[in-house]
Amino acid sequence: RKVTILNGPNLNLLGKREPEIYGSDTLEDVANNCATLGKDLGIDTTLLQSNHEGQLIDWIHAAREDSDGIIINPAAFTHTSVAILDALNTFKGPVLEVHISNVHQRESFRHHSYVSLRANGVIAGFGVEGYELALRRMATLLG
Ligand code: DQA
Repeated sequence: RKVTILNGPNLNLLGKREPEIYGSDTLEDVANNCATLGKDLGIDTTLLQSNHEGQLIDWIHAAREDSDGIIINPAAFTHTSVAILDALNTFKGPVLEVHISNVHQRESFRHHSYVSLRANGVIAGFGVEGYELALRRMATLLG
């Protein structure tokens, strides 16, 4: 089984960026934790990050060919991107949405997610642990 873990804008700065909101773990830590857990679950993980909407869309298209599931933290594009929603709607397998922070406790513009219209499940406010929880759920969904 193969799962692509996509990350949107500013998440390259995870660990340095607003650590009081997002914590001190880096995206590399997240990639390592997911790879380790993935081994136990029999899932190969590839974690990618881009600050560019089109790049994320291209990776979603690539996942159509080479991945069984997508875990995505679209970051700020969550709240703005019909294009990412449309791309995810072309993907046949499970899609799980992750937010490190509890978006519902924050500004009202973070309360709406386009991606949630497609996601099979959403995790928010569990810190970076949310990625591993999503991976466990993905293992269940992929059977
Ligand atoms: C985020 C929440 C978004 O509102 C924000 O724009 C991010 C990160 C999260 O993981 O909590 O960049 O997706």
